[in-house]
Amino acid sequence: MDNKLFHIPNILLMGPGPSSVSNSVYNALAKPTLGHLDPAFIDLMDDIKEFLMQLIGTENELTVPVSGTGSAGMETCFVNLIEPGDRVLVLINGVFGTRMEDVASRLGAKVDSLNYEWGTVVDLNSVAEKLAETNYDLVAMVHAETSTGVCNPVEDIGTLVQQNGALYLVDCVTSLGGMEVKMDNWNIDALYSGTQKCLSCPPGLSPVSFSEKAVNKLSNRNTKVPNWYLDLSMITKYWSGKSRVYHHTAPINMLYGLYQACFNVIDEGLDIVIQRHKDMHQMLVDELSQLGLKLFVKERDRLPMLNSVVIPNNVEDVEVRSRLLNEYQIEIGSGLGPLAGKIWRIGLMGETAKEESIQKLMDAFGKILD
Ligand SMILES: Cc1ncc(COP(=O)(O)O)c(C=O)c1O
Repeated sequence: MDNKLFHIPNILLMGPGPSSVSNSVYNALAKPTLGHLDPAFIDLMDDIKEFLMQLIGTENELTVPVSGTGSAGMETCFVNLIEPGDRVLVLINGVFGTRMEDVASRLGAKVDSLNYEWGTVVDLNSVAEKLAETNYDLVAMVHAETSTGVCNPVEDIGTLVQQNGALYLVDCVTSLGGMEVKMDNWNIDALYSGTQKCLSCPPGLSPVSFSEKAVNKLSNRNTKVPNWYLDLSMITKYWSGKSRVYHHTAPINMLYGLYQACFNVIDEGLDIVIQRHKDMHQMLVDELSQLGLKLFVKERDRLPMLNSVVIPNNVEDVEVRSRLLNEYQIEIGSGLGPLAGKIWRIGLMGETAKEESIQKLMDAFGKILD
């Protein structure tokens, strides 16, 4: 019988995620599976928590990898922190802000949103005005908006939200491990991320962290958390304490992968990794400009790990991307929603943020766009 796994191609992942995975992480995933209450596994869990706290920049005791992709992290934050009737403000300048609004609305929250043109940043003045009008229970925003390549001013908004008294929820799916994230210093109360971006681990886990203020909200809810699987008040009994209580079977081997992925970033040095992302971004921008290609986002608002490139008028989006994939084994991303057909999204995340990747892409682009 033919085993299709033997024919899986080796693609250089330069899209919006997943990013390329290192051999050390693949090797970690292949380690023998342990029981989910085995002391050796629990020891590893404790290290994973410590690693995540370092990367996130927090002392929060409630820091765990949720089983599921980044969207599970988003859902975890909302289901644990929102009760019907709560007032929520979502700041939207791309797909993932829109998704937050949807998730909060499904929970019966009274959701207001401030919308900004895709490709521009969330504007501080309008947020300040809105927060002066209403006391919110929670304000939510995306740090690195993967759909556009924009970096939002998380720290400045954090100051405004703190004055309002609301909980501050930030999506760090794409930023974590590739740029500075300082949860405690930036007054973030709830944060979630994903494994498949700058941590360069396959998709499957979502690091989540709650501040003391967020934990208080969770502990003092009037209603039960409406989602059993993502109820952090139960999950934390498996992730902390002397005796661990079974909630669901942890995805053991995925957690080996996450352990190794965090280990790799910390071993290389978080600051060095962040600088590498900046350097590679600059190199990509320089190389693209030599081909006459322009970036979609203003220089000061750009992310290092997600580069939106304007597709020139005379160029066929789908044809270029399929030739890159089929002839050169390189994946880049398409535009989403209103940006479909208008931009390409080139990821330089984690393992992919290397000179070799840029060189390979530029050689291919040079030939295809000739
Ligand atoms: C900023 C952001 N938030 C949330 C998500 C959702 O994560 P996932 O697709 O892993 O569920 C993504 C995925 O690309 C993302 O880029």
